[in-house]
Amino acid sequence: VNKTIALSSNSTTEGRTMKVIGFFLAFLISGISCQGQTLTTLTTHVTATTAPRFPDVIAGLSSTGQFTVFIDLLTKSGVLPQINSSLHFTVFAPTDNAFTKLSPDAFEAIKNDPAKITELVNSHVVLNTNLRIHGTMEDVLLKTINNHQVRINTYNVLHTVTANGVNITVKNIPIVHGLAHGIDSVLVAAPGNIMQIALNRTDLSTFTGLVISSNLLNFFTADKDITLFAPNNNAFSKLSGNVMSYLQSHPADLAETLRFHVVRTITLFSLGMIHGVTIPSADNHHDNLMLLQAADGSLNVNTAKILVKDLIATDGVIHVIDTVLIPTHVLVRIQDQGIIVG
Ligand SMILES: *[C@@H]1O[C@H](CO)[C@@H](O)[C@H](O)[C@H]1NC(C)=O
Ligand SMILES: *[C@@H]1O[C@H](CO)[C@@H](O)[C@H](O)[C@H]1NC(C)=O
Ligand SMILES: *[C@@H]1O[C@H](CO)[C@@H](O)[C@H](O)[C@H]1NC(C)=O
Repeated sequence: VNKTIALSSNSTTEGRTMKVIGFFLAFLISGISCQGQTLTTLTTHVTATTAPRFPDVIAGLSSTGQFTVFIDLLTKSGVLPQINSSLHFTVFAPTDNAFTKLSPDAFEAIKNDPAKITELVNSHVVLNTNLRIHGTMEDVLLKTINNHQVRINTYNVLHTVTANGVNITVKNIPIVHGLAHGIDSVLVAAPGNIMQIALNRTDLSTFTGLVISSNLLNFFTADKDITLFAPNNNAFSKLSGNVMSYLQSHPADLAETLRFHVVRTITLFSLGMIHGVTIPSADNHHDNLMLLQAADGSLNVNTAKILVKDLIATDGVIHVIDTVLIPTHVLVRIQDQGIIVG
């Protein structure tokens, strides 16, 4: 409910402000509705700030028993003295469980290659920043030692804060000079921006071709916090020939249809998707997109199923979907031509 308030802004320029207001509302509502929980949170907070800090990152991570693999990699990486001598640092430590999600081959390859160990550790450590995780962080961007971007987002209703869409399951382990956070997957670096990633995928070539022929490349790269629901080639081949030729002969309606697949000023990773929440799309009418969770656990946006989720980009996230979404006002005009839409 709270996220709906936050997301139901009708103006692109006011999107940010509305989002902030939304989160304050969410905070107020949770404060009113569950006083007990608010008090618990406050107590924890006070304890955390007065608690002694661990002398170094190894001691901090060892305290929970969940990071034996990462501690081993940290120790072997040679990055420890750099962390230890930094004035501030923030470490995103994958839990032991996170490493079990890697393919055994990928993990073996990392474990046996000092350069890969260092690369992995470097991509989980931010120097010169002490980032304390709290519940109002939206698209906070950090750079790791090896210049990878880490994007922090909060999904208050779900009590979830993510780093590149990965759940931060252990927050704010206090260390002298720094903080460590536990994450439940290994971070993957964004290989490029939204359009670079889309252009690089053969299954999205119809979509990217239409974006280019509609002169919408700038539209798709103008924002730095984008969610793109990208229909794959099969989604376009499912459209009837009549619908496709209507769109191709009506450039304004084609552009509206393409823009309908974009949400601006919000990076929505799958972990933050709540059943029934609507989000205004970036088409000129701000037609809503609705997120739905099917009985089999699959995530849907309107009538489309999300096939590939959470492709992280430097300017947001892409989810590949199996159906082209057509905004209602365009649908009406297509049907006015006597064309039957699937
Ligand atoms: C890091 O610094 C602390 C003191 O600030 C020291 O106790 C610890 O041994 C150092 N660890 C490493 C790996 O340099
Ligand atoms: C993320 O982790 C926190 C802490 O373990 C948990 O409470 C929360 O439910 C998780 N969020 C999701 C969406 O799984
Ligand atoms: C393009 O694809 C190649 C091969 O899969 C991959 O290594 C590279 O990171 C991708 N680049 C982008 C921008 O997605």
